Amino acid sequence: MKLIEVKDYQEMSQVAADYLLSKVKTSQDLTLGLATGGTPKGLYEALILDHHENKTSYQHVSSFNLDEYIGLSGTHPNSYSHYMEENLFKHIDIESKNTNIPSGKAPDLEHECEEYDKKIDSYGGIDLQVLGIGSNGHIGFNEPGTSFDSNTHIVELAQSTLKANARYFDSIDEVPTHAITMGIASIMKSKEILLLASGQSKQNALKTLVEGDISENFPASILNRHANVTVIADEEALAMVKGLELLNR
Ligand code: PGA
Repeated sequence: MKLIEVKDYQEMSQVAADYLLSKVKTSQDLTLGLATGGTPKGLYEALILDHHENKTSYQHVSSFNLDEYIGLSGTHPNSYSHYMEENLFKHIDIESKNTNIPSGKAPDLEHECEEYDKKIDSYGGIDLQVLGIGSNGHIGFNEPGTSFDSNTHIVELAQSTLKANARYFDSIDEVPTHAITMGIASIMKSKEILLLASGQSKQNALKTLVEGDISENFPASILNRHANVTVIADEEALAMVKGLELLNR
């Protein structure tokens, strides 16, 4: 795992955007894995700015998102489908037929999960997966205890996740309790992974990721077994990580 330490959220977002743009500009055909939440917002803002200023095109890019709430339609303001549309897709020239997000309203959710993995495989897998990390170590919505062998599946969200995400809803009671998420095995199949972390709330998670054991109790720990992971984290998030050879910029 390669660690890049940056100063703050803004620098994390720009470094991540530069990294992703280098792939977008040099590939003829690129499949991205995308994430939602507070962490990648700045990355998406930087991509939008670049698209306006430099006209970088996404016509050859496809995307698969990590997860979606069950029970929210794609147009619900708190759905991840809506988040992606508002925070990235509608501002760049990616074709909507090339963007994929699991449906949390599918009549047969098990079937939806199976089809999602099959579709990723049919694209030849994900070339570059962007990840955030939950304070409990979740990646996607794979909460502690999720099998490392899991494919895309339905999860019940941890109490800490409901609390963390309640900020986007009127009350915690409105946060959906279940979601569809790409599984740990689905994420690990990605050829390359970019994990972003910023701020004090990620300190414990980063310490456990870097210094802890590989365990299903801390889902992100599996990333230590992936051959091509780059972590871009800011000083605050890395404050508890000691004795590391950080690749300072
Ligand atoms: P955040 O969430 O980006 O909103 O902090 C990260 C995550 O839960 O994976």
